[in-house]
Amino acid sequence: MKRLVALVLIVSACGGGSAPVTGLAADGQALFDQRVLGENAGCVTCHSLRPDVVLVGPSLARIGVDAASREPGVPADDYIRRSITNPDGYVLSGFDAGRMPQDWAEQLTPTEIDAIVEFLLTLGVDR
Ligand code: HEC
Repeated sequence: MKRLVALVLIVSACGGGSAPVTGLAADGQALFDQRVLGENAGCVTCHSLRPDVVLVGPSLARIGVDAASREPGVPADDYIRRSITNPDGYVLSGFDAGRMPQDWAEQLTPTEIDAIVEFLLTLGVDR
């Protein structure tokens, strides 16, 4: 068991951006990757995780870092959560309001939203 813990620590210490996400964040990644999520097009249909690739919405490759500086005084996790539950509350410069589905709070459970937030917080962050 000790050896397993040590291995996990080593893997997470040297993974850089490519370390696999675990736990709640892994659940969030699985949700993010679905082409259809609830009754909406899934996140992945509009958001690339490759840097600078714009689909309908912005790339989220660095959102785990960028989210902290989008709105003054709003921490990264709050910004990401609000981007999902109230997308038009803050519209990213260069993009139009009303393109992202507005009803995620009805399409997803609170736990599913938590999981997606946890996943997005890992993106662009050295792990
Ligand atoms: C139909 C296309 C579409 C879908 C589906 C969609 N989004 Fe978006 N999203 C957008 C657009 C367009 C923007 C930029 C305008 C804005 O800020 O609302 C955006 C903005 C965002 C932002 C803010 C990005 C930034 O850099 O500040 C986050 C975070 C986000 N979306 C997450 C999600 C997640 C998570 C899902 C799935 C649950 C999702 N989106 C589904 C189109 C979409």
